[in-house]
Amino acid sequence: MAQSDLLVSSWCKNVKSLPADYIMPPEKRTTDFSVSKDIPVLDLGQEAGRGRSALIQQIIKAGEEFGAFQVINHGVSDDLMHEAMRVYEEFFSLPVDDHESLLSDDFYKSVRLYTSGYNYANEDHHLWKDTLKHPACAHPQDEVVQGWPDKPERYREIITKYSVEVRKMSVRILDLICEGLGLEEGFFRGELSQGIGMVINNYPPCPEPSLAMGIHAHCDPYTLTVIQQQVYGLQIKKSGKWIGVDPLPNAFVIMIPYQLQIISNGKLSSCEHRGVTNTSEARISVVTFCGPSKESVIGPAKEHVSASNPPQFKTYKYLDFQMNYLYHLSKKNLCNETALGPYLL
Ligand code: OGA
Ligand code: NI
Repeated sequence: MAQSDLLVSSWCKNVKSLPADYIMPPEKRTTDFSVSKDIPVLDLGQEAGRGRSALIQQIIKAGEEFGAFQVINHGVSDDLMHEAMRVYEEFFSLPVDDHESLLSDDFYKSVRLYTSGYNYANEDHHLWKDTLKHPACAHPQDEVVQGWPDKPERYREIITKYSVEVRKMSVRILDLICEGLGLEEGFFRGELSQGIGMVINNYPPCPEPSLAMGIHAHCDPYTLTVIQQQVYGLQIKKSGKWIGVDPLPNAFVIMIPYQLQIISNGKLSSCEHRGVTNTSEARISVVTFCGPSKESVIGPAKEHVSASNPPQFKTYKYLDFQMNYLYHLSKKNLCNETALGPYLL
């Protein structure tokens, strides 16, 4: 079958029941749809004023307890957030011909439109989503933009602005985390946040959400994950229980990925999360992340290691971590044991 015919969005419209290869085995299904108001919503506007130290404390507490929080007053304008979401709605409704050149089943390709998980041909059960991924840009003249989709017409202009602004916000948040963890100033500013990219997931309305899955439970491999969502579907795991993240207008969800857990020697927890679908509304999540450059050497920061607090993790090169993560993702056994196991002391 042609790649384009596999995209869920290309065939799902008149489907009344879930095709057999989208029905998850019972242990992978989701029944819990409750939205929690407990996940902290933090006002980044406090950063500049007298609220700064309180904000830092709130960020660290949220990172310890939930591995996630939402931010408002974050400096990215409501208009730009809205326009970026519009661009992606348009992108995912383009005719098949406009998607053809982006479709690929090679999961190492840096710009890629694909369906389901990382390796469709190798899956027993497919995910109810289509995904576009590409590197992000850090400044307006960045040449990575040349490899991006060129439709809809405003794609490159809007997404350049969006990724530059989201990157600025991410660096501000990493600076606050740096201060909260007592690390040297600028700790995250160099190679630890240079690997930047975007993953945009489209979950069309699904006829039987309780049998399907949007995205399997996982923690992200990066340094910081930022998610824009307008429709409910994101859940995080806290103390063994799944809780739903309320899609607040104009807020971003910030998630603590593995590298922050390791650098903080386990003080911050990486956030395990998954995505569920619904029957009535398409859901798009715009994920913007920063990660270390491939050659970065990472391990618990010296400020978090002492005789009474020995290192919990080895020191390794990020490329090695990333390859191990992708390997287990492609083998369908990605979890904390396989992703972190080789790096535990
Ligand atoms: C991801 C992810 C969550 C979502 O792409 O890594 O976790 O809400 N997405 O789509
Ligand atoms: Ni994720």
